[in-house]
Amino acid sequence: MAKSALSFVCQNCGAAYNRWQGKCDGCGEWNTLAEEDITGATTMPVSVRSRRKGRLFTLETLTGKTQDAPRLSSGMAELDRVTGGGFVRGSVLLVGGDPGIGKSTLLTQATSLLARSGHRAVYISGEEAVAQVRLRAERLGLADAPVQLAAETSVEDIVATLSEGTVPRLVVIDSIQTMWTDTVESAPGTVTQVRASAQALIRFAKKSGAALILVGHVTKDGQIAGPRVVEHMVDAVLSFEGEGSQQFRILRAVKNRFGPTDEIGVFEMTGLGLREVSNPSELFLSERDLGSPGTAVFAGIEGTRPVLVELQALVAPTSLGTPRRAVVGWDSSRLSMVLAVLEAHCGVKLSGHDVYFNVAGGLRINEPAADLAAAAALVSSLTNAQLPTDAVYFGEISLSGAVRPVAQTTARLKEAAKLGFGRAVLPESARGDIGGDAGLSLDAVAGLTTLVADIAARGQARPGSPGKRTDPEKNATPGQNRRQGG
Ligand SMILES: Nc1ncnc2c1ncn2[C@@H]1O[C@H](COP(=O)(O)OP(=O)(O)OP(=O)(O)O)[C@@H](O)[C@H]1O
Ligand SMILES: [Mg+2]
Ligand SMILES: [Zn+2]
Repeated sequence: MAKSALSFVCQNCGAAYNRWQGKCDGCGEWNTLAEEDITGATTMPVSVRSRRKGRLFTLETLTGKTQDAPRLSSGMAELDRVTGGGFVRGSVLLVGGDPGIGKSTLLTQATSLLARSGHRAVYISGEEAVAQVRLRAERLGLADAPVQLAAETSVEDIVATLSEGTVPRLVVIDSIQTMWTDTVESAPGTVTQVRASAQALIRFAKKSGAALILVGHVTKDGQIAGPRVVEHMVDAVLSFEGEGSQQFRILRAVKNRFGPTDEIGVFEMTGLGLREVSNPSELFLSERDLGSPGTAVFAGIEGTRPVLVELQALVAPTSLGTPRRAVVGWDSSRLSMVLAVLEAHCGVKLSGHDVYFNVAGGLRINEPAADLAAAAALVSSLTNAQLPTDAVYFGEISLSGAVRPVAQTTARLKEAAKLGFGRAVLPESARGDIGGDAGLSLDAVAGLTTLVADIAARGQARPGSPGKRTDPEKNATPGQNRRQGG
């Protein structure tokens, strides 16, 4: 019997220390160390280590045959898109997200749909009683689905139960923080328990071929053992995001051993559960502030799918020594770069202004292609010049102020045309990529200076201000044609 080993384990990253210290050297967080009994969790002491000779095993070739379909469709196209085409046999998925974002709802729907199509699907809740899960299923209209349900937290009991009968195709564990295993002494929810429990469940999945989904709570301050330590152990990490006040929910692959990590799944939270949104552009543009200065529509690409989204900028004179720069949904260093280029090459003076920048609908944009749309929104806000309401923008801005082409020009234009936009402001050099009729008029810009001059001219020609009036927009409300059906 090994004597119990007390140690201080960082509840954020899992680093272990012999004595308490205020700051974790591993991740730099403060006050995250907690005393844990890590007996059996770390490698065994030398005396216990087996001295037997290694067992011989066969080495396989890469071309071995795999048993039946390696992917299992979840019945939800948006979920399949993010996982890369469905659940892989024996794979383990971690779904993380803020409290109340809809993790249990999403996974109840997925297990129910699988069970309805005749697969053995198991939902283990460590957080809610069976009655609560039933109540949710009833609300979602899924009470008739033959899901196998239990409220359990002991990993040994769960593995024993799941090993009986036919191998389940999908097992959901809601959540990994509530699970505990006999093999370690620490309290449930501690890093050591979470890691040991996840290990045991993952071993079961790999051995049996069942797809396993672990739900993990994310807390920003790292108080509860975050799923960070589990991230390395699983095959894919999906993050479920959304703004509390809004109905959109975005499922994003943060890591995926079997698929791409740039795809997003878009859902809408309704009383009847999560509704899949197969055309996110219509959703993101549906509540658009039509034509107010400081907004521009960006024709972006998320994974393989074009997504139009509104970028909003507010540029206002500052009262502070150092002006504020606040960004939501975009990279703040990217914003700084666009601001610097505007200032250096286009004579747009922004150093005396606060800049607030927001991507509508809670979407987060990573593409450099958003530069041009962001610049348009910024200049539009600064000059109080309304941009054409029927225009979309895309293009990368280089440090020299040139507008560079981006990938998938045709897909962006097609989406814009489909949603009723009449023109696209795009890089001059992208013209070559467009075969035939684009379906909308193209406004190619070679440099940022051209764009700034155009917008400034609109500002001077604004109705109500002296000068020439602009042409009335021929199609004033693209993107406003609310999605049909529901
Ligand atoms: N009757 C209802 N009508 C509409 N939406 C509801 C209703 N009941 C719950 N919801 C939505 O479902 C959300 C809770 O979903 P769910 O329990 O799946 O979240 P979760 O991520 O599993 O939360 P937790 O972290 O607490 O386990 C609520 O925040 C709310 O948005
Ligand atoms: Mg839940
Ligand atoms: Zn740490």
